[in-house]
Amino acid sequence: MSQNIFIGVAWPYANGSLHLGHIAGCYLPADIFARYNRMIGNEVLMVSGSDQHGTPITLRAEEENTTPAKVVEKYHNEFLDCWDRLGISFDLFTNTCTDIHRDTVQEIFEFLRRNGHIYTDTSALPYCHTCKRFLPDRYVNGRCPHCNNPDARGDQCDNCGKPLNPEELLDIRCKISGDQPEIRETEHFFLKLSNFGNDLLEWVKPQSHWRPNVLNFTRRYLEDGLHDRAITRDLDWGIPVPVDGYEDKRIYVWFDAVTGYLSASKEWATYQSDEGAWEKFWDGNAKSYYFIGKDNIPFHTIIWPAMLLGYKNKQLPYDVPANEFLTLELQQLSTSRNWAVWLPDYLASFDPDALRYYLSSTMPETSDSDFSWADFVKRNNDELVATYGNLANRILTLTYRNFDGIIPSPSNVSQNDNDLLLKAMKLFESVSSNLSACHFRMALHSAMEIARETNRYLEHEQPWKTIKTDIERTGTILWVGLTILNGLKIAMYPFLPFSSVKLHRMLGFSENIDDLGWDWDQSTKGLKPGQLLQDPTPLYQKLEEDIVDNELDKLKNND
Ligand code: MF3
Ligand code: ZN
Repeated sequence: MSQNIFIGVAWPYANGSLHLGHIAGCYLPADIFARYNRMIGNEVLMVSGSDQHGTPITLRAEEENTTPAKVVEKYHNEFLDCWDRLGISFDLFTNTCTDIHRDTVQEIFEFLRRNGHIYTDTSALPYCHTCKRFLPDRYVNGRCPHCNNPDARGDQCDNCGKPLNPEELLDIRCKISGDQPEIRETEHFFLKLSNFGNDLLEWVKPQSHWRPNVLNFTRRYLEDGLHDRAITRDLDWGIPVPVDGYEDKRIYVWFDAVTGYLSASKEWATYQSDEGAWEKFWDGNAKSYYFIGKDNIPFHTIIWPAMLLGYKNKQLPYDVPANEFLTLELQQLSTSRNWAVWLPDYLASFDPDALRYYLSSTMPETSDSDFSWADFVKRNNDELVATYGNLANRILTLTYRNFDGIIPSPSNVSQNDNDLLLKAMKLFESVSSNLSACHFRMALHSAMEIARETNRYLEHEQPWKTIKTDIERTGTILWVGLTILNGLKIAMYPFLPFSSVKLHRMLGFSENIDDLGWDWDQSTKGLKPGQLLQDPTPLYQKLEEDIVDNELDKLKNND
């Protein structure tokens, strides 16, 4: 039975380009999962958008002597272009400056306030005399009270991952002036997280399908006891507080951004023929998945669920398969030190599927993993080109040259032929079950095993030799090979959409690959003897070794 699957993906701050850490962290796994679910016949709604408020944006605008609006416009457009070129198939990628988003955030705020989940209180916040203003979280640096990291920010410690309130930091400094701020009283609205602690704990306990890091982090956090959090700030860039007398304050960026999941669903519905279409993704029968990096866990397993519990009991997350971090050449990625591979740079020079392959096969699912250019080139050449691409190319060219480009009919299918077909089908099942469980590395591994087994089969059958002696047997071997390729295009599609479409065309099909369904042999729409192939060309390009040194030089010159 078809299920409704909501896929929320972390909203990237529109203050800079995307890098490979973002892609491995959440956008690629979300897209793989979305493509798979659409193919098995589920209804998918995958949304995200640019996070356009908050101090990451205002800081960047100040640095560049421009306005927040100009900053976010530039990067939002760049994101859209990147999704297109990398094949990240959002149903909607919007932003947090839309009217529908502002209205939704204000409505939730008001609803929670009227129901006793939001209250006002004064809090003591850092005020910088040099800058003459209350300092937003990210303008404050200090020592983390939990792990002693000397460089924690006012909103979060990057070392231990704990969210922080600015007043919890020790030895604080203003990031702009470097001066020590004074602590002054100011009035703010607070989200009464303590109202939800028990319900959240009850909800979290049985989530045994969550990744252990997500489950443990969340449980520990809840068991420590929830502290109420200020959800307004003294700023002028952001969503206005919908209460008279608070015109000079704005809603905190995190309260704003997580609400994007709901407002984007509503916005998406306005583009469908049915304005209520969003509800079936939020009504309790849907399953919702949130793809995020590990630094965003508490916002998705505690704060957003608390808001949903308070706001009409909306659908809570089913899973939050957060990834760990991607390192680059064994060093932590750093945007400020420019130690990153920027997605627009990658896409200007290389194949999107090569990146999708590499990041899927090394995805930081259960521990941090590393991107290295040497490994990227090696895996592209040894695995994508040599194992999978050459397999396709061999089978297609042998058929194309020796059978007038026509798919031969099998005769006398042998034990060895059947063994391979059976093995491939079993591996395909393992691709499916791993994809359903968000085990993307394992899923890709099983798909590649199909290619490996088929290479072994060909080495054994040697169709390039039998072609000279036994055309009928050769036809059967190639039919087996083509049958496997026709299944591999499906198995690989969530990971490698561009080359799967290409393979689909070379096998002689003109219809949309999305319409085939997640089916190893696609029954009636499947491969037919007598079908005309297209002139085969290689699926992937071998990369030269000197790319490694060139790219490493680029990185080091950045540094
Ligand atoms: N913009 C935040 C970041 O880059 C992520 C926001 S995710 C959402 O860390 F929950 F707000 F959507
Ligand atoms: Zn810390």
